[in-house]
Amino acid sequence: MSTATINNQKIAYESKGSGRPVLLVHGFPLSREMWRAQIDALATSHQVIAPDLRGFGESDPPSGDVSMADHADDLAALLDYLQIDQPVAIAGFSMGGYVTFEFWRRHKDRVGSMMLVDTRADADSPEKAAGRRESADRVATEGPNFIYDGMIPNLVSNQTFNGHPELVKAIHGIMVTSSPAGVVAALKAMADRPDSRPLLGEINVPTAVIVGAEDAISPPAEMEQIANSLQSAEFCTIPDAGHMTTMENPAAVLAAMQKHLSA
Ligand code: MLT
Repeated sequence: MSTATINNQKIAYESKGSGRPVLLVHGFPLSREMWRAQIDALATSHQVIAPDLRGFGESDPPSGDVSMADHADDLAALLDYLQIDQPVAIAGFSMGGYVTFEFWRRHKDRVGSMMLVDTRADADSPEKAAGRRESADRVATEGPNFIYDGMIPNLVSNQTFNGHPELVKAIHGIMVTSSPAGVVAALKAMADRPDSRPLLGEINVPTAVIVGAEDAISPPAEMEQIANSLQSAEFCTIPDAGHMTTMENPAAVLAAMQKHLSA
C-alpha cells in the first residue's frame, strides 16, 4: 500500500504492474480490497491503480462533506501524482460507477475506456434519497454497523448468502474498515448525485457493462438499458453472483475485464 496527500488528505492506493493504466474505483461502504482478485491478475499485464476513496479503507476520514465530484477530482489528482497522463481504462463498481460518471463529466480527456460494474445511471428517487439522509443522521449518532448488517443480504446472491459464509465475512471485514465520517459523507453524496442517464449517449469510448445475474441493487435489466444507451457497449452478465460480482465470481469478472481491455 502507498499513500499520496491529495487535497490535504491522505489517500491510500495500490499501483501494481506496468502497461496500459487501469483505474479501479470501489463501491460503498467498501475499499480497494473488493477488487483484490482483479488487481492481482490484471497487474501481470497492466498498471493497476486501485485507491481507497476518501473515508474508506486506509484513506483518511473526511473532515466534512465529500461529493461524487470530489471523489472524481481525487482520482484525477492521484493520476497526476503518479504522472499518468495517458487515458486510463476506468472501472467503477456501484458507487464507484457514480464516481466514474463524474470523472467522465469533469475529466473525460483522461478516459480511454470504461467498465461499468453493477452500477446505476439514474439518481436516487426522493424516497431513497430521504432514507439515505436519515441513515446518515443515524450513523452520526450510533455508528455505521446497522448499515453493514442491513446491506449484506442484498449485496450477494441467495446462494452466496446461504452457502458461503466465509465470503459474507470477508465482505463485512472490508466494510468495517470504513470510517463513520466516510459513510456519512458517501450516503449524503449518493443522495445528492445527479441523474447520469442524459450523459450516456455522449460517452464515446468503448464501454463494458458488467452485472451479476442476481444483482438486486443494480438489476441486469437496468444495466442492459445503460448498455443500450451507450454508443459502444458490450453487455456481460456474471453467473452465480448478486451485486458483489468481483468477489462472488472473481474469475468471470476478470475474464470480462480482460476481454474489454484486449479489444
Ligand atoms: C454500492 O455497492 O456502492 C452501493 O450499494 C451503491 C448504492 O447504495 O447506491
